[in-house]
Amino acid sequence: MSRAIPIAELIHTRNTAPGPTDTARPRPVGSVYMGGFRAPALADVHLAIIGIGERSMSQIELLAQIPHADIVGLCDLNAEAATAAASQVEALCGTRPALFCGDADAYLRMLRELRPDAVMINTAWEQHASMAIAVMEHGAHALVEVPLATTLDGLWQVVDAAERTQRHCMMLENVNYGRDELMFLNMVRQGLIGELLHGEAAYIHELRHQMLAEHDWRSGHFAARNGNLYPTHGVGPIAQYMSIARGEDTFERIVSLGSPARGRELFARAELSDNHPLQGTRFDCADINTSIIRTRLGRTIMVQWDETSPRPYDRKNLIQGTRGTLAGFPTRMAGDFLGEATPVNPHPADGYNRDLHPWWCGAEAEAEMHARWDHPLYRRLGARAIALDKRGGMNYLLFARIIECLHRGEALDQNVYEGALWSAIAPLSEKSVHEGGMPQLFPDFTRGDWKHTTPLGIVP
Ligand SMILES: NC(=O)c1ccc[n+]([C@@H]2O[C@H](COP(=O)([O-])OP(=O)(O)OC[C@H]3O[C@@H](n4cnc5c(N)ncnc54)[C@H](O)[C@@H]3O)[C@@H](O)[C@H]2O)c1
Repeated sequence: MSRAIPIAELIHTRNTAPGPTDTARPRPVGSVYMGGFRAPALADVHLAIIGIGERSMSQIELLAQIPHADIVGLCDLNAEAATAAASQVEALCGTRPALFCGDADAYLRMLRELRPDAVMINTAWEQHASMAIAVMEHGAHALVEVPLATTLDGLWQVVDAAERTQRHCMMLENVNYGRDELMFLNMVRQGLIGELLHGEAAYIHELRHQMLAEHDWRSGHFAARNGNLYPTHGVGPIAQYMSIARGEDTFERIVSLGSPARGRELFARAELSDNHPLQGTRFDCADINTSIIRTRLGRTIMVQWDETSPRPYDRKNLIQGTRGTLAGFPTRMAGDFLGEATPVNPHPADGYNRDLHPWWCGAEAEAEMHARWDHPLYRRLGARAIALDKRGGMNYLLFARIIECLHRGEALDQNVYEGALWSAIAPLSEKSVHEGGMPQLFPDFTRGDWKHTTPLGIVP
């Protein structure tokens, strides 16, 4: 499906139980496992973008300044947005990308006529899977905004398409490139916090104002679905620390429960005009969802999601091991390893507090942490990333790594199976909520091959 689903149509699907939990599906003959996949190196990466909305407008300026990235095509229903973005690219790079606008299938023309090397998909959630499949079937690598798909069947179709066409399909989980997320990965890989036991992830971001957008496709999801609908920003880094689906461990099951759904309806009453289409809409989606994943090794991960309630932004980013705990929002650390590893004694002098392992935190501590443990990628590109990227550098680092890997013919940092597994939290949590919190098994999108897939190392 290449169009955003109108809200009324999405609401129509309400009250139908989400699809069954999918288990093993044999790999079709001729398809190839894509963990660790490397494509032939590209001198320059000819890049096209589908969907020039909020996300693209803030990213195009960054993309245009990445060595070996050549933006050749832009596609949107709306010619005005695409034209403005093309002018931005031209001003920065000196060449103007071709425009494909005006109808829902223009992106197919772009794929046929331009034959780009890679295509970024920045459209509504429910459009990602079909667009990613079309991109790969036209011979390009698919770079897909979060989530990879909204249903288990859609996720399997994306995985099957990547294996059939042997094209990269990476979900663009930018949070994995945050400075602290990279630093924690670096520390975990050095074994500083011991054996990993537990993680806490969240996407708590008050975004009710998105209901005011002219083309609001999100409210349909909030009305018709009830689960943890946007889990990947929180869970992506935790999954990478634990090498989920890459050699060490994988997600086994999930349980999920939601709070009452109140905030969206209240916001509509307070902020939208009396004749607004969302006025009087019943929103099924809990204001805050809490899910717990258990991994094959018996580790636990709490994943929370709330884009509705008036509370501070939080992604938790907590990883706990046998020797210590690292956490975000604010950045802090505790544990046995600190006493040995840092010259700053984090513990107050009295023995009582010492036993409680108080957090080591604050501006001074943070500066010391970064000096000691910043990830080598951040040390190499961080200054440029921060100078160009208003969101702390994570988007620049994401794009720079993708283009660098495609240019060198190296494996990308996130494979299609990781994107599928992280995205599967949404439909599985919906099913769990629907069944009163019953556990749901994760499909193994790798069909057992995760066991011999190399964990992501510390890229220099
Ligand atoms: N990683 C992040 O931090 C982050 C941040 C914001 C948004 N996102 C993701 O980015 C995606 C886009 O979000 P957004 O806020 O930019 O949405 P948006 O509504 O502002 O933009 C979507 C664009 O897609 C266009 N579009 C719709 N159908 C199309 C079609 N058939 N062909 C071409 N264009 C089409 C629309 O006209 C619109 O301009 C979402 O998946 C969202 O989850 C990610």
